[in-house]
Amino acid sequence: MVGVTGASGAIYAERLLREAAKHFDEVLAIVSRHALSVFETERGRKAQPPLTTDALLGESLPQVRFLEEGDYFTPPASGSYRHDGMVIVPCSMGTAGRIANGVSDNLMTRAADVCLKEGRPLVLVVRETPLSLVHLRNLTRLAEAGATVLPAAPAWYNRPSSLEELADTVVARILQRLGVEHKILPEWAEE
Ligand SMILES: Cc1cc2nc3c(=O)[nH]c(=O)nc-3n(C[C@H](O)[C@H](O)[C@H](O)COP(=O)(O)O)c2cc1C
Repeated sequence: MVGVTGASGAIYAERLLREAAKHFDEVLAIVSRHALSVFETERGRKAQPPLTTDALLGESLPQVRFLEEGDYFTPPASGSYRHDGMVIVPCSMGTAGRIANGVSDNLMTRAADVCLKEGRPLVLVVRETPLSLVHLRNLTRLAEAGATVLPAAPAWYNRPSSLEELADTVVARILQRLGVEHKILPEWAEE
């Protein structure tokens, strides 16, 4: 499961979806309407529902299936649906706050809530700066409830030569957290 919100960092979602499509038979994606505005601003692609990977990501990824943000009649709304985990990337403070407080007001927050109650991996790639005490308390609640709070904090030590390479330093950590063997970046010991 991949959720995409309207926090800055659409490139992280783009790179993760592309990589996830190589490793999983199916990737269910939920994209908030604010995320679509951020995609247009940051990536220059204006995509409208019903979404396609061509419109949103600029390439065809048949493994990725988009679900409507408001549609609860879909598998991830139910705890009986088993999946490998959910990543929300990038994750806004609004969405993080709603999940932290059990406000399941759309499919994204409901699916995340289901992950917490079922003990499934939930990785929140949060992005905001600076963080208020409200943000910090919400993130603490999420960590206490079992989520992984993985800030979109890219690493510079490999001297990335493009935005994509820089974004991939975060994507590599997400995949690592899900136990996915990937070849995006060399591990520290190999460098
Ligand atoms: C260009 C742009 C960048 C934004 N960046 C952030 C951000 O980094 N973090 C954040 O929490 N909200 C950010 N926002 C605000 C969120 O989009 C807004 O709070 C929205 O309600 C989030 O809704 P969603 O979580 O349902 O996508 C940004 C908005 C815009 C238009």
